[in-house]
Amino acid sequence: MRIGILGSGLMGGKLGTLFARHGHEVVFSYARSERKLKRLARDAGERARAGTPAEAARESDVLLLAVHWSRVDDVLKQTCNLPGKVGVTCSLPMNANDADVVVAHTSSGAEVLARKVPRAKVVAAFGTVPSEVLFDVFERRRRARRPTLLYCGDDPRGKEIADQLVRDVGFEPLDAGPLRMARYTEPFTLLIARLAYAGDRGPEVTYRFEWMRRE
Ligand SMILES: NC(=O)c1ccc[n+]([C@@H]2O[C@H](COP(=O)([O-])OP(=O)(O)OC[C@H]3O[C@@H](n4cnc5c(N)ncnc54)[C@H](OP(=O)(O)O)[C@@H]3O)[C@@H](O)[C@H]2O)c1
Repeated sequence: MRIGILGSGLMGGKLGTLFARHGHEVVFSYARSERKLKRLARDAGERARAGTPAEAARESDVLLLAVHWSRVDDVLKQTCNLPGKVGVTCSLPMNANDADVVVAHTSSGAEVLARKVPRAKVVAAFGTVPSEVLFDVFERRRRARRPTLLYCGDDPRGKEIADQLVRDVGFEPLDAGPLRMARYTEPFTLLIARLAYAGDRGPEVTYRFEWMRRE
């Protein structure tokens, strides 16, 4: 796949690196310094390069949105609203100090985003785990027992692509249903963040859903 990274920070930088290591073509974009984008691309290998958000959008079929909620409009302005693209978002609708969600219960960040880019196929994925686990999950991707990663969306093709990317990074994907399920997965991440950052066991936390076999 050709994947454009919109927001090359903790999430976008790491996920883009892992997508490239898996074999996808990646364009890193949207950071405050071009030098950082170039360094990320160099470290991610020959399938990665640095570009502008407009280039990332033009030259990719899939875009990962990984910016703070306050930067979403700015980055979308630079990408002409992603017509026809699959937009995978890990961005959460957090307030300025990242203490709480500003959209919840009756809507979600993912649904607000989908309304901003009506011609894109929006899927919410990767936003429910801390960035600190991503490289470890990738290292252990061939193990039989892998952590779950929830995703949700309304477009079947978009979901197929997100499912594959989740698998490529090393998680066991779990389709949580339509995009409006992000109303529940987004606040769930606040619980995950609490477990990751408030305890004394470190931020490398994942989760796993299991169905008991009927006897
Ligand atoms: N971090 C996590 O563990 C985690 C987990 C789940 C979901 N999320 C969500 O994922 C999204 C991304 O989080 P993150 O932690 O990856 O954020 P981050 O590290 O701050 O990355 C955001 C990216 O946006 C760039 N940026 C910010 N302001 C900019 C500006 N004015 N012009 C150009 N680029 C700008 C940053 O540039 P620089 O690189 O120059 O700073 C950075 O590359 C957020 O919505 C967050 O809620 C994060």
